[in-house]
Amino acid sequence: MKTVIITGAGIGIGRATALAFGKAGYRVILTDILEDEGRAATDAILAEGGTAEFHALDVTSTEQANAVVASVEARFGAIDTVVCNAGIAHKVPLDVLTDEKWDHTFDIDLKGMIRVIRAAAPKMREAGRGSVICLSSIMGVAYGWDEHVHYSAAKSGVVGLVRGLAVELAKSGIRVNGVAPGYIRTAQALSEEHSLGPAGLEKAAEFIPMGRVGEADDIADVIVFLASNAARYLTGQVLTVDGGLLVGRY
Ligand SMILES: NC(=O)c1ccc[n+]([C@@H]2O[C@H](COP(=O)([O-])OP(=O)(O)OC[C@H]3O[C@@H](n4cnc5c(N)ncnc54)[C@H](O)[C@@H]3O)[C@@H](O)[C@H]2O)c1
Repeated sequence: MKTVIITGAGIGIGRATALAFGKAGYRVILTDILEDEGRAATDAILAEGGTAEFHALDVTSTEQANAVVASVEARFGAIDTVVCNAGIAHKVPLDVLTDEKWDHTFDIDLKGMIRVIRAAAPKMREAGRGSVICLSSIMGVAYGWDEHVHYSAAKSGVVGLVRGLAVELAKSGIRVNGVAPGYIRTAQALSEEHSLGPAGLEKAAEFIPMGRVGEADDIADVIVFLASNAARYLTGQVLTVDGGLLVGRY
């Protein structure tokens, strides 16, 4: 049985991704700082006859990332797929964008990814197989997002991470790709304080060529594809999954 580890798996895109991997027959290692939500998502996979377990993991902690990965490897061997999904998108205008606020977002949205990948990579390399999938954003690959400069910069950083790591790990049989979601109906996008909010999302649907905002499982299914053998020759790419938004809005 293949093993996948997912960060931020308690809610939103991470949760939908965990459920999709569960349905695809993977052993799903759900991790999050949201313990109740993470355990509930784990129970949902188990209730469907899947295999899953939850571990508390704050991606800002190298110690925790190392410990969770070591615990999984000790029991199940090399991890097959790492999904770096955990992220925050706080609205912070430039005049109050302190070093601390900048670093906080980078610590989760970019460095948080490398902590988990770095922990899992040695055994994946030994095994000579595996894949890594990182969540970027349309705000990282194409759009500028005012009052979210730190977020856009971190999500653009994900593109560089994917490219560099794809080349470094290719010889070990490990593929590294990213997904750049458009507007997806999750807590992040529904936040009035930090993002579009419910009304803004409905408005966005009007100019998305496919006529609707994305759902978490629209992203989850692409992530499962990227991990699958169907994507065996695909590495170093960040796929935009946005209902046609980028190509259709001009
Ligand atoms: N929703 C969108 O429209 C959208 C668009 C583009 C990109 N994304 C990206 O997709 C990913 C998932 O977003 P979402 O919309 O599901 O958001 P969400 O807010 O619903 O979920 C984010 C998850 O990350 C977890 N998390 C936050 N800080 C963490 C930390 N320090 N350690 C571990 N986990 C932590 C949260 O607990 C939560 O489970 C994020 O990286 C986000 O930036 C989302």
